Amino acid sequence: SKNQAWGGRFTESTDAFVAEFTASIQFDQRLYRHDLAGSRAHARMLNKVGILSTPDLEAILVGLDQIEAEIEAGAFDWQIALEDIHMNIEARLTDRIGIAGKRLHTGRSRNDQVATDIRLWLRDQIDHIGHEIRRLQTGLVAVAEREAETILPGFTHLQVAQPITFGHHLLAWFEMLERDYERLMDCRKRVNIMPLGAAALAGTTYPIDRNYSAELLGFERPARNSLDAVSDRDFAIEFTSVAALLLMHLSRFSEELILWTSAQFDFIRLPDRFCTGSSIMPQKKNPDVPELVRGKSGRVFGHLMGLLTLMKSQPLAYNKDNQEDKEPLFDTVDTVLGCLRAFGDMMPYVQTKPEKMRRAAMQGFSTATDLADYLVRKGLPFRDAHEVVGNAVALGVQTGRDLSEMTLAELQSFSDTIEHDVFEVLSLEGSVAARDHLGGTAPNQVKLQIANAKKLVST
Ligand code: ARG
Repeated sequence: SKNQAWGGRFTESTDAFVAEFTASIQFDQRLYRHDLAGSRAHARMLNKVGILSTPDLEAILVGLDQIEAEIEAGAFDWQIALEDIHMNIEARLTDRIGIAGKRLHTGRSRNDQVATDIRLWLRDQIDHIGHEIRRLQTGLVAVAEREAETILPGFTHLQVAQPITFGHHLLAWFEMLERDYERLMDCRKRVNIMPLGAAALAGTTYPIDRNYSAELLGFERPARNSLDAVSDRDFAIEFTSVAALLLMHLSRFSEELILWTSAQFDFIRLPDRFCTGSSIMPQKKNPDVPELVRGKSGRVFGHLMGLLTLMKSQPLAYNKDNQEDKEPLFDTVDTVLGCLRAFGDMMPYVQTKPEKMRRAAMQGFSTATDLADYLVRKGLPFRDAHEVVGNAVALGVQTGRDLSEMTLAELQSFSDTIEHDVFEVLSLEGSVAARDHLGGTAPNQVKLQIANAKKLVST
C-alpha cells in the first residue's frame, strides 16, 4: 500500500527496509507533547484568520487532547510506515475525528513543524537544565560556607603552591557554573524564535498570522526568513556547545574529587551511597559517579562535533540530513541532566578531612611566597627576597622541615631582617588571611563572595 500522506505520485510502495531506514518515529516520539502544542497553536491561528471553521477547530482540539492521553497511557500504536511523530499524530487525528483532521496541515509543512517542535522541546529542557545548575550551585555555596576557613594546599602544576581556603576553591567551581548558566540563558534567546509559518521553505499562500502563533506558543517572535527558519540548526549546535563547556567543567570537578578521595590526597570523603565497590578487592570504595561524569563529557564533545559536521555542507533549505539532529541533541540533554542530577545530589554531602588538608598544606613550603613578601616589606627587592627564601627552602628540603618549623636563628642566617613576627606570616592561617582583597582566598573575602553567590542563585 502506498504512503497515506504522500503516496499520490508514487507507482510502488516504499521498500520495507527503506521505510525503516528513513523513519524517525523510533526516537522523535519524545517530541509528542511539543508537536501537539504546535498543532494546537497552528489550528487556533488558522481559525483566527478564517481558514479553519470553529467546529473543525473544536474537533481538532478535542482529538489532540485524546491523542495526548493515549500516548501518556502508553496506548498509542506508533507506526514505522508513518515515518515520524508528525504523521503518526496527524493520521491518528484523522482516524479519530475524520475530515477535520485532514485540514490541520493547511499552510504547514513538516519542515517548519519539526523545527518548531525541537525548539519548543529544547526551550523546556534549557529551563530544566538551568534549574539543575542553580541547584548544584546552591549546594556548592552551602559547602563553601561551612568550609570558608578550612585550609588546604592550592596547586599549580599539581605541585603545592600556596595555601587556600576550601570555600575559595568551591567558589571557583561556582564561577564556572555561573558562566555556564549565563551562556545557557543567552542561548535560550536564539532557541526561542518560531519557524512555524515558513511551511516547506518559501512560506505559504494562506493569510497566516505568525505573530499570533508565536504568542500562543510563548516564542519571542517568528523567524524572519522562511528558508533560514526550516534549515537552521545552529541553535542546537549552540546549545550543544554550551553543554560541552558545562560538562568540561563537571569533568574537571570530577577529576579533583577523584584525586581528593584517593589515599594519596585523602582530602574528602564521599558518602557510600554515591560510590561502588569492587567484585574482587574487598577494600575498594570507588568514586564511580565523578568518574562517569568525567567519561560522559566525551559523549557530549562528540555530539558537538557530530552536529557541526551534520550541518557543514547542507545547501538551503531543509534536507533529510536534519533528521540526524535529534539523537545527538536528545542524548546531550539526557547526559547533561544526568550529570547535573548526580552532582547536585552529591555535592552537599561531600565531607572534608581538614586535618589531612592541613597536613598537606604543611608540605611543599606553601608559605614560601609569604616569606618573600615579608622580606619585601622589610625593604628587600622582590628578586633578592626570592633568592633568600629559595635558600631557606633548600635547608628545609635537606632537613625535612617546613619554614615554620625552623628556629628564628636559622631563618635569620638567611636574612638578618627577619624578626619574630615572621612566624605569623609563615602560618597557614596568616597566609590565607593576608590575601584579603577582592577575589583573594582570605576567609573574609570568601564570606563576601558567598553572600554574592547567594544573591545570584536566588534570582
Ligand atoms: N522526521 C523529519 C525530521 O526529523 C521531519 C521533517 C521531514 N520533512 C521532510 N520533508 N521529509 O527532520
